[in-house]
Amino acid sequence: MSNTTLNIDQNLLHYILDTSVKESDVAKRLREKTMTLEMSRMQIAPEQGAFMGFIARLIHAKHYLEIGVFTGYSMLHVVEAMGKDASATGCDISKEWTDMARSYWEEAQISEQIDMRLGEATDSLNKLEDSLYDLAFIDADKGNYDTYYEECLRLLKPKALLMIDNIFWGGAVADEKVQDTDTKAIRALNTKIMSDKRVNATMLTIGDGLMMVQKV
Ligand SMILES: C[S@@+](CC[C@H](N)C(=O)[O-])C[C@H]1O[C@@H](n2cnc3c(N)ncnc32)[C@H](O)[C@@H]1O
Repeated sequence: MSNTTLNIDQNLLHYILDTSVKESDVAKRLREKTMTLEMSRMQIAPEQGAFMGFIARLIHAKHYLEIGVFTGYSMLHVVEAMGKDASATGCDISKEWTDMARSYWEEAQISEQIDMRLGEATDSLNKLEDSLYDLAFIDADKGNYDTYYEECLRLLKPKALLMIDNIFWGGAVADEKVQDTDTKAIRALNTKIMSDKRVNATMLTIGDGLMMVQKV
């Protein structure tokens, strides 16, 4: 019994990963290949990928928007979970990383379901239709988080769900001595969301913190 969130040590984390994370063979290989890249820390954790797939199934998501695709691991989890009659839009500025993503999506036979928009996400989002998506995920440059949040509220259907990654920013949000641009942007958005009457929201202690936001 506990009335506080448990500290997850490495032993418990391995137990969670071994016991609960179901990952397709392609997802496992993509995650392991990404781990060899210099920027591997940008990839979401496997338990978060599994959770996002669970959420996609739970809400019967059929249209998914992802801002910040990198090598395609979170996209792979969600699209595999949504099934063959679903579609997704991805926004990223990196051709190199999203080309790598595309090769694994092809192996997983989900590539044709994903419309990748290369370029500044603010430009790509501008061109998308209102109230189209059931589920969205923000995981790109932190300075634009507030813009991405506002765009997602426009692009999501009523009652649809938005997930925002890195809301703890390695714990920096809780340390007032840290005043860099990215930390301030995340901190400001966290505060804004929790009093925003347009949404219901809660903070989840998974990975680097995941904000779950339902458009009302
Ligand atoms: C943290 S990674 C995304 C990780 C990914 N969701 C995963 O599961 O592996 C952030 C991504 O945002 C992209 N990005 C950064 N700034 C961007 C911008 N202004 N517009 C679009 N994408 C951007 C980067 O190229 C990078 O691939």
